[in-house]
Amino acid sequence: MRTAVYPGSFDPITLGHLDIVERGARLFDHLIVAVLVNLRKEPLFEVEERIAMATESVSHLPNVSVDHFPGLLVHYLRSKQARVIIRGLRAVSDFETELQLASMNKELMPDCETIFIPTEHQFSYLSSSIVKEIARHGGTVDRFVPERVKTRLESRYREESPGR
Ligand code: PNS
Repeated sequence: MRTAVYPGSFDPITLGHLDIVERGARLFDHLIVAVLVNLRKEPLFEVEERIAMATESVSHLPNVSVDHFPGLLVHYLRSKQARVIIRGLRAVSDFETELQLASMNKELMPDCETIFIPTEHQFSYLSSSIVKEIARHGGTVDRFVPERVKTRLESRYREESPGR
């Protein structure tokens, strides 16, 4: 069985991520969306919420599951007996960081491979950070995140500014 892992912070999952999940799932028997637990910067959503949003968003895809990992990605890959990492590439600006990540992961686990999937044009400018920024200021995020993520974003920021 060919298993691939799509790792990320998913704080929160966006339609751009979902596009990569759907396309990655067509290439492998099983795709694991792996949510990183310990982010370097403070996440907006706790890991349980990030997992819940990802799980809700991929529920229509039978060969996709959602999991989480606390430390190094290569340790997680080994624990799942997986060798393939999927990452989305939006623009040339992503490439430098992504190449560094892929090269370091290969150094740490020589038999792993990273496969880059180019983002669909309409998602090329999308990121979780920019979506949070829009939602924080009361902008519309319907076109950027699944419906239930939108609801969670709105209620999170309503808690922060109850008068809005
Ligand atoms: O969604 P992101 O924040 O771009 O995802 C980054 C992620 C989670 C793929 C990357 O930070 C990661 O794999 N972190 C786990 C620690 C690790 O293995 N780092 C790379 C080798 S030093």
